[in-house]
Amino acid sequence: MRILVTGGAGFIASNLTPRLLGAGHEVVAVDNLQLGTRAHIRPFLGNPQYTFWKLDLLDLPKVDELFTTHKPDLVWHLAANSDISFGTTYTDFDLKGGTLVTYNILESMRKHDVKRIVFSSSGAVYGEPLMLPTPEDYGPLWPISLYAASKLACEALISAFCFNYDMQAWIYRFGNIVGPNPTHGVSFDFVKKLLKDPRRLEILGDGTQTKPYVYVEDCIDGMAFGFQHAQDRVNCFNLAVEDWTSVRTIAEVTVATMGLSNVEFAFTGGSRGWTGDVPKVRLDTGKLTRLGWKPRLTSDEAIVQTADAIVAQMRAGWGKG
Ligand SMILES: NC(=O)c1ccc[n+]([C@@H]2O[C@H](COP(=O)([O-])OP(=O)(O)OC[C@H]3O[C@@H](n4cnc5c(N)ncnc54)[C@H](O)[C@@H]3O)[C@@H](O)[C@H]2O)c1
Repeated sequence: MRILVTGGAGFIASNLTPRLLGAGHEVVAVDNLQLGTRAHIRPFLGNPQYTFWKLDLLDLPKVDELFTTHKPDLVWHLAANSDISFGTTYTDFDLKGGTLVTYNILESMRKHDVKRIVFSSSGAVYGEPLMLPTPEDYGPLWPISLYAASKLACEALISAFCFNYDMQAWIYRFGNIVGPNPTHGVSFDFVKKLLKDPRRLEILGDGTQTKPYVYVEDCIDGMAFGFQHAQDRVNCFNLAVEDWTSVRTIAEVTVATMGLSNVEFAFTGGSRGWTGDVPKVRLDTGKLTRLGWKPRLTSDEAIVQTADAIVAQMRAGWGKG
């Protein structure tokens, strides 16, 4: 297949791309390099099966040109602002970078008769649900961040386009995805801070926030598995692990991985890391596991492997460009 990967220079896409190329697919990647980096795509640039477009997906005529040039068989739509706190400061950021970008992709798919889309949503769409672990059919959905509101709006647009224009979608509501090549996230943040000051680590919130952390390879396996095994018009799955890890544990693992000791943990306080943060997340993964998918790593194992990978990458000077 020819697969359009949006957000192609980002964290998840840079782990997905070698898998798609390795399976014999052609990859057309697009990114505005707002958060993604050239370092993430450098390994693929000489591959004749790989094309990169630096493009802001808010530019509909350019997106149309992209579809005219490379009409894809499938869109793997990962582009979005992935920094929740940023969207709190600039209130139209997720509206544009998430919702309108997704509209542009769907409209171009409609126009160019592209029928299938895989979409990265988030467990954040549940807001602070009364039911934990939260299943996909939980409602009503009241997001508490503009990022999550945008993801929910994207899901709604995808559903409407699917039913109006004979398209098919696979929507994944992720837990926290971790692994090598991060552009953001708690482990990345801790390593960066500790490289700067190995004696003191600022931790957002009180450290008791607990969430399921999914290793990026498991995330990609889960998405591919759902795509192969679910054939409804709109297929929606939680993609997470059943256990969880606290932010304090992540800090301890990071400190140990870096070989540090006597680090002062400076908590900023409060139960949330930032406005719109959901401090306790549990996603019911039964729908995908009943189809036969199983993550390889637990949440704690994913955090340990991620700390190893990030510390090695940062020490090698990666992440600077
Ligand atoms: N990583 C997680 O824990 C997590 C959890 C839930 C959902 N998600 C979603 O998964 C997707 C991928 O996440 P990620 O962690 O790889 O994030 P990421 O920020 O590393 O990747 C997203 C990429 O999209 C690009 N991008 C943003 N706006 C764009 C635009 N207008 N035009 C072109 N490119 C644009 C960015 O430059 C970035 O490279 C995102 O949609 C994110 O919201 C991620």
